[in-house]
Amino acid sequence: MNKRGFFICIEGLDGSGKTTQAKILVKNLTKQGYEALYTAEPSNGKIGKFIRRYLHGEGRVSSVVEALLFAADRFEHVSEEISPALAEGKIVVSDRYVYSSMAYQGASGINIDWIRMINGYVLKPDLAIFIDVEPEVVLQRIRRKKTIMEDLKTQRMVREVYLKLVEGGELKRVDGNRTRADLAKEILSVCLDALKMHHSIMPS
Ligand code: TYD
Repeated sequence: MNKRGFFICIEGLDGSGKTTQAKILVKNLTKQGYEALYTAEPSNGKIGKFIRRYLHGEGRVSSVVEALLFAADRFEHVSEEISPALAEGKIVVSDRYVYSSMAYQGASGINIDWIRMINGYVLKPDLAIFIDVEPEVVLQRIRRKKTIMEDLKTQRMVREVYLKLVEGGELKRVDGNRTRADLAKEILSVCLDALKMHHSIMPS
């Protein structure tokens, strides 16, 4: 039997509801009889923890250095968490992945092909979802817990990159402007459809 699991990532602007939705998705998949695991970037590894402190601190390093740090963290994330879980046949739901680097560091002027290149070792997700919410709306929601990435101009550019990736077929867009429950239903249905095409993994 093929023990390889199924790898999903959820992308979106900060405040788009992706963390909540990724967690609900794991619960819903578990209810359906799948073994599912929630994970996130920045990860819980050494570099991930360093990045979290950086994001909530003062000042910035260059976007090139940011992209390299996120790529380093991603390497740890894939090798320590994602790959082992997939090898056990689990569904992995990652809250952010390589598309966040393309969107955020890409929005700050870094060449997307170079970002792809430094992330060349990463696993391609089986399904990558973009929860689309207008930057004006997310900024209202996250007014209290800002990081250094969160001004309107940046968020607009980040969304533009995400939408280009949707156009190119790398990300599947879902409309985030609805209730938490409706959005969760839509995301679950997109995932179950994708899982149906992937015959090696079945609910128990
Ligand atoms: P976020 O999902 O907001 O983490 P938390 O819920 O812990 O606050 O992600 C943190 C920030 O990192 C977010 O503003 C996007 C940014 N980011 C990048 O710029 N590039 C990346 O590759 C990743 C993974 C995140």
